[in-house]
Amino acid sequence: MGYASLMTPLTSLWPVLGLTLTTPRLVLRPITDDDIPAAVAAARSGIHPQGRNPFSMPWTELPDEELGPNMARWYWRCRGGFTAEDWTLLLGIWHDGEFIGCQDIGAKDFATLKTVSTGSWLRQSAQGQGLGKEMRAAVVLYAFDWLGGEVAESEAAVWNAASLGVSRALGYELNGVARKSWGGVMKEVQNVRVTPETFRRPDWTVKVEGHEAAAKFLGA
Ligand SMILES: CC(C)(COP(=O)(O)OP(=O)(O)OC[C@H]1O[C@@H](n2cnc3c(N)ncnc32)[C@H](O)[C@@H]1OP(=O)(O)O)[C@@H](O)C(=O)NCCC(=O)NCCS
Repeated sequence: MGYASLMTPLTSLWPVLGLTLTTPRLVLRPITDDDIPAAVAAARSGIHPQGRNPFSMPWTELPDEELGPNMARWYWRCRGGFTAEDWTLLLGIWHDGEFIGCQDIGAKDFATLKTVSTGSWLRQSAQGQGLGKEMRAAVVLYAFDWLGGEVAESEAAVWNAASLGVSRALGYELNGVARKSWGGVMKEVQNVRVTPETFRRPDWTVKVEGHEAAAKFLGA
C-alpha cells in the first residue's frame, strides 16, 4: 500500500476550512492562503478615511510594503493558534464572486462561557449597503442557532457610527465604555452585547455547510 492512499484532503485534517455560511448576498468562508492576495488588495483599496483608525491594532496604517506581510502573519497566527479552547475564525466575505472584506468570530472557553466576540471590515466601496449588517447577522445566527452560543459581544471606538449602527440594528445592547490603548493611543471603546432574547433576527436564514466537522474544532 502506498502512502498516497493514506492522504486525506486538507479540509478533513483541518475541518473549519470546510465551513461556509451563505446569506442572500454574501458567502462567508475561512480565508485560505490563496485568498490572501485578494484580502490585501481589498485592504489596499481603502477601509477607512486616513487618520480614522477603527481597529485596536492600527494595521491599516502600516506602510504599503508592510501591510501584506502583516496581514499574512495575522491570518497564519490565527490559524496556528487555533484550539477548541481559544479560537479566532477569520471568514472572508465574497459578494458577486469578489472578495470585499472580513468577518471574524472568536471565542475563549466556548464550552463553558457560550460567548463569542466578533470584528469586521469591508473595503470602502462595499460599505453603507447593509452588507456589514448581513455578515454580522450571519455569524451571530451561526453562533446562536448552530453552536449553541448564549452571548455575542463586540466593541467599537465610541465614534464608530457604522459599527455601532450594525450592532444597534441587530439588537445589541450597550455594555459599558472602557479606556483602551490602541497602538499606544488612548481610545474610548463602547462594548456591546446581544443574546438570543435581544437579537433582532434578519428575515432570512443563513445556509450553513460543513458544520458538523467544524463544531468539534470550535469547542461546541
Ligand atoms: C463597520 C462596517 C463593517 C459596517 O458595515 P456597513 O456595510 O458599512 O454597514 P451597514 O450598511 O450594514 O449598516 C448597518 C446599520 O448601521 C447604520 N449605519 C451604517 N453606517 C452608519 C453611519 N456612518 N452612521 C450612522 N449609522 C450608520 C445603517 O443605517 C444600518 O442601520 P439600519 O439597518 O437600522 O438602517 C463597515 O462600515 C466598515 O468596514 N468600516 C470600517 C472598518 C470598521 O470600522 N470595522 C469595525 C471595527 S469595530
